[in-house]
Amino acid sequence: MYIDKLSVENFRNLKKVNIDFNKNINILYGDNAQGKTSILEGIYFCATGRSHKTHTDKDVINFNENETHIKTIIRDDTACDKIDVHLKKNMKKWIAVNNMPVKKIGELFGFLHIVLFAPEDLRLIKSGPSERRRFIDLEMCQLNKIYYYNLKQYCKILKQRNNLLKEIQKNKSLKDTLFVWDSQLSEFGEKIIKQRQKFIYDISELASEIHNKITGGKERLEIIYKPNVSSDMFEKKLIKNTDKDIFYGTTSTGPHKDDVSFIINGYDAKDYGSQGQQRCSALSAKLAEIEIIKKEKKTNPVLLLDDVLSELDEKRQSFLIESIKDIQVIITCTGIEDILKKTNADTQVFFVENGDVKLTV
Ligand SMILES: Nc1ncnc2c1ncn2[C@@H]1O[C@H](COP(=O)(O)OP(=O)(O)O)[C@@H](O)[C@H]1O
Ligand SMILES: [Mg+2]
Repeated sequence: MYIDKLSVENFRNLKKVNIDFNKNINILYGDNAQGKTSILEGIYFCATGRSHKTHTDKDVINFNENETHIKTIIRDDTACDKIDVHLKKNMKKWIAVNNMPVKKIGELFGFLHIVLFAPEDLRLIKSGPSERRRFIDLEMCQLNKIYYYNLKQYCKILKQRNNLLKEIQKNKSLKDTLFVWDSQLSEFGEKIIKQRQKFIYDISELASEIHNKITGGKERLEIIYKPNVSSDMFEKKLIKNTDKDIFYGTTSTGPHKDDVSFIINGYDAKDYGSQGQQRCSALSAKLAEIEIIKKEKKTNPVLLLDDVLSELDEKRQSFLIESIKDIQVIITCTGIEDILKKTNADTQVFFVENGDVKLTV
């Protein structure tokens, strides 16, 4: 699939922007703070119903305006879909696909498959487990609606269980009702653990192969799932930890505590990897994601590269450009890298300045 058109109004510093993308390489270049990342953020919003930069939707509305609109037209060999996002300061977010309002975000997933590689992706390796769970969940939710449903139910039940734990601290007799939440939580938790296990195994296999090529066979990358508890032990452990959970007023066991490790040549990249190795591991994981989407969804995702080319050495740049020949790519940069001048792919260059975008010839 590819993004044919993007229209944005009052999104961050972008005033009124209309872009016709080509099917291959699109370069958005300009100085810092001109609106390049905001364009990618707008696309990301259409694909996932949220921003990759903020948890507060309304942050993306231009400071001086009350509302913002983003519209994308997505095409495939046979299909053409339109996604509309409308955010207003004092209203719920409104999203429509082909003019039909989306009631749950899950209904949006699948219309626009994107893979974003941004400087923040280093957090995937460096930061705490919650960042890695977020990555896994976001990718899995886009790929698998059942996973999205299970995760949503799990989070809802977890919240209710945690509330009840706090209530029990005040009123011990409520303890008798806890088993209802325990069995529901373990039902959905077990499914999540099994689905994560499979996904991380698949992504590890592919990322390992890619990483091997990028590093010229020097590095062996493994992505390892570290579940907080195995699926068959979840309910038992939940019950075993009841008194501890009541004492702390929170659930100590379950997939909400899972982690994932990126291992390079046997060592955890989080603790032992150089910045370059960490970045490259994240890149391998992202390129693996492209392959998973191609395989499972039978379509090519759109790759968004935010300011990352200049961070890679020449060999890695070439590998990246080489491996994305057949998909649509939207790249932001402050200067046009040599590698992009050399590529024989169909390339379109846009100049971004002060919230405005112009096609250059
Ligand atoms: N809600 C907003 N309203 C107006 N401007 C904003 C808003 N949020 C961020 N900005 C500004 O938008 C500009 C563009 O940011 P960004 O897209 O990240 O630039 P680039 O990627 O080109 O460096 C920045 O100057 C930023 O301060
Ligand atoms: Mg930027």
